[in-house]
Amino acid sequence: MSRDYYKHFEKIIYHFEDIERAIIKAANWIDDEYKDVKEEIVLIGLLKGCIPFLGRLLLHLNHDVILDFMVVSSFKGEDKRIGEPSIITDIITDIKDKHILLIEDIVDSGYTIKKIIELLKKRQPKSIKLISLLDKREGRRVNVKIDYSCLKIPNEFIVGFGLDYKEKCRNWDCIGIPKKNYIKGEKNE
Ligand code: IMP
Ligand code: MG
Repeated sequence: MSRDYYKHFEKIIYHFEDIERAIIKAANWIDDEYKDVKEEIVLIGLLKGCIPFLGRLLLHLNHDVILDFMVVSSFKGEDKRIGEPSIITDIITDIKDKHILLIEDIVDSGYTIKKIIELLKKRQPKSIKLISLLDKREGRRVNVKIDYSCLKIPNEFIVGFGLDYKEKCRNWDCIGIPKKNYIKGEKNE
């Protein structure tokens, strides 16, 4: 299916079908990784970028899960990073002695997720793992262990499938590099 917004892409890196296939593999990985765990896993989605990924992932999982969310801001609605990542809304679940799986849209520099992991570890979960839809490995500035990443992407600003440019594009069903004129002349970092 073709969508009107496809015209805003300089390059589509992953189509919907590629992403869906990768997410099914990720769900199988989760079921296998936690096969000896009797309790439910707490999936913590990092809003808002995780929504399409988590929504699809969830429907392919067999293991019992409960859901919680954090709102974390690192881009402040722009495509430029401003200072430290900030936690806007915290989870409501008591995660002490629970198995935690963090659900990220993308790990770029790693600053955001590193900060979240440090914070959550202080609450003494039984385990804490990280799954990310995308891994922008060349962007990495700090060392972060991603337990599972679905797809690799180049060191470019990308949008779609949860990833935004000024809060838009999250609903786009594929992932790619937006055209320069879509970014309205702002420097693409
Ligand atoms: P990091 O702290 O640099 O790893 O970036 C973490 C957050 O920045 C991600 O969870 C995304 O929400 C956002 N982000 C990183 N790279 C991109 C991108 O290329 N497009 C849109 N958002 C991005
Ligand atoms: Mg994110």
